[in-house]
Amino acid sequence: MFETLKAQPADKILALVQAYREDPRDTKIDLGVGVYKDASGLTPVMRAVKAAEHTLWEQQDSKVYTGLAGDPAFADAMVDLVLGDAVPRDHVAAAATPGGTGAVRQAFELIRMARPDARIFVSDPTWPNHISILNYLGMEIVPYRYFDDETRGVAFDAMIADLETARKGDVVLLHGCCHNPTGANLNAAEWDAVIAVLQKTGAVPMIDIAYQGFGDGLDADAAATRKVAGALPECLIAASCSKNFGIYRERTGILMMVAQDPQTRKLHQDTLAFLNRQNFSFPPDHGARLVTMILTDEALRADWQAELEDVRLSMLGLREQLAAELQKLSGSDRFGFLAQHRGMFSRLGTTPEMVEKLRADHGIYMVGDSRMNIAGLNAQTVPILAKAIVDAGI
Ligand code: LMR
Repeated sequence: MFETLKAQPADKILALVQAYREDPRDTKIDLGVGVYKDASGLTPVMRAVKAAEHTLWEQQDSKVYTGLAGDPAFADAMVDLVLGDAVPRDHVAAAATPGGTGAVRQAFELIRMARPDARIFVSDPTWPNHISILNYLGMEIVPYRYFDDETRGVAFDAMIADLETARKGDVVLLHGCCHNPTGANLNAAEWDAVIAVLQKTGAVPMIDIAYQGFGDGLDADAAATRKVAGALPECLIAASCSKNFGIYRERTGILMMVAQDPQTRKLHQDTLAFLNRQNFSFPPDHGARLVTMILTDEALRADWQAELEDVRLSMLGLREQLAAELQKLSGSDRFGFLAQHRGMFSRLGTTPEMVEKLRADHGIYMVGDSRMNIAGLNAQTVPILAKAIVDAGI
């Protein structure tokens, strides 16, 4: 029977990982997949994670199943981290998922269960896997304009005009912070305008927040999510712990549903548990448990926050160095946007041909849409990248 299977399109981000690995040049630079790397190119286990793992190894005396929605303590800690006191806790249903991608997938399935004809508005561009999963699930995608190719900032008026075409029963997918792949983000007033459009149209927001702490800080990065959740009657939030806890392979994420009242929350909570059961039964626990231990222990939490802040500041430093280097070499301010962008990524804003040329000539790997992982740089490689960009005439 399986002779009917057809080859599926390769994920362009993951294909790049493979191509980079196979490149024999020792001068190559990996700006592809969104993984944090320190100055020596390593993706370290964070100190607080190591400490929590040590304690867990000593103290954990059973690996019996948790609940279908994961350990409620993980949900409490994550709701607090992401939403703070923006909404009453008894309005929020939450279920642990295998990574942030798992939360995104569960959210889409939930939307499809509730409204099979819902249209999902996604930013153009968005994380390619959003599109891939929606297509796989056969859901209707409506792209909204987001990135201004000239300024490399948000094409705000165009975005609002497109979102105004949403209607009740549609969902608008928003990146809570650190937009992937562009690095261009809405300011506070622009978020207010998006909220006003959502209120007017009746479309439901779904927020993907995968980089909290990588942009302007833990609370600043959650501010928009909190504002949206507090202002609208319903909201879905898919949060990832992969990046900010550096536990990529542990697959730790959570899907939150904000309801209008505690009675509705009960139905939501049961539905999330049902969906988990259908798709994978119990969610992974190891990473979720580490996150819970860190967030609920004062000393561990302080150490995690300090290390996360170092990570954030190192990426900001690289952004500033790259913008300054490009200004020096090009004699123009046209790369200033790199210092304005936030998070791991920036879209350079050049053609796939130029991206290919940078790869062929210099072993510089970025995604074909010219998304660069800033964390793939270090103080020594920034000038090399800047020179390659300017030499290529970008
Ligand atoms: C990325 O965008 O590079 C990351 O979110 C990793 C992934 O799974 O694509």
